[in-house]
Amino acid sequence: MSGRRYLVLMGPPGAGKGTQASRVAEGGGLCKISTGDLLREAVAAGSELGRKAEQTMKAGELVSDDVILGLVDEVLDRPECAEGAVFDGFPRTVDQAAGLQELLTERGERLDQVLIIEVPEAEIVRRLSGRRVCKKCGKLYHISFDPSRKEGVCDACGGELVQRPDDQPETIARRLAVYGEETAPVREHYAATTGVTAIDGDQPIDAVTEAIRRELEPADAEG
Ligand code: AP5
Ligand code: MG
Ligand code: ZN
Repeated sequence: MSGRRYLVLMGPPGAGKGTQASRVAEGGGLCKISTGDLLREAVAAGSELGRKAEQTMKAGELVSDDVILGLVDEVLDRPECAEGAVFDGFPRTVDQAAGLQELLTERGERLDQVLIIEVPEAEIVRRLSGRRVCKKCGKLYHISFDPSRKEGVCDACGGELVQRPDDQPETIARRLAVYGEETAPVREHYAATTGVTAIDGDQPIDAVTEAIRRELEPADAEG
């Protein structure tokens, strides 16, 4: 095995996967692979893939497994992923989990750890309805829990802060249902294979980061 590390960060919509994946990736010299971000980039670029994915995402449904696995396959070989990756919001189906296993095996790698951020549903709705995202750099904010210094303006790049089109009440409800139907079985799959570490996500952002740090297994010494 190489010294590379591959971590999966699971959890329902709004659990804080994106927020925490950025921190974990930065702290460990890993890249963050967020399939949601990759799809939103494709939508913004107006590519064929983006045009197809846009409606699916607005409806809160899942984009097909082969499209998602194709995206991940491509990104895994980017130079910023040379030390490994934190997956955010992927895999979301049991077939995607099997696909990930194949992509890593092809590269002589394996998945090191799966963490799941747990948050009660009422809190999820509060988080998603107040979320703002920088249009330019993608940095995440929350109007009450993690506000920018100047309203509507990104601290990091000065970009405009906007709401995600799928953060509307009906779509949030559908995303939660899809999570229960399609993604909850992924937890069972990993519980029986790699193992799953549960993280209490119902605490302030820094406390969740701390909880994750405590649970992260030390990087492989050999390799
Ligand atoms: P994706 O972008 O992955 O959305 P999601 O899973 O619904 O998760 P979110 O990004 O909404 O939440 P998050 O857990 O990242 O939370 P965040 O850190 O932002 O996917 C979007 C769509 O793309 C899917 O519906 C699907 O259509 C498609 N898709 C993506 N991946 C796919 C795949 N693999 N297969 C098929 N389709 C796929 O935090 C939320 C808010 O809360 C923020 O405002 C944040 O500031 C705040 N916050 C975070 N942590 C805390 C805390 N501890 N306390 C208080 N506030 C907090
Ligand atoms: Mg996210
Ligand atoms: Zn920005």
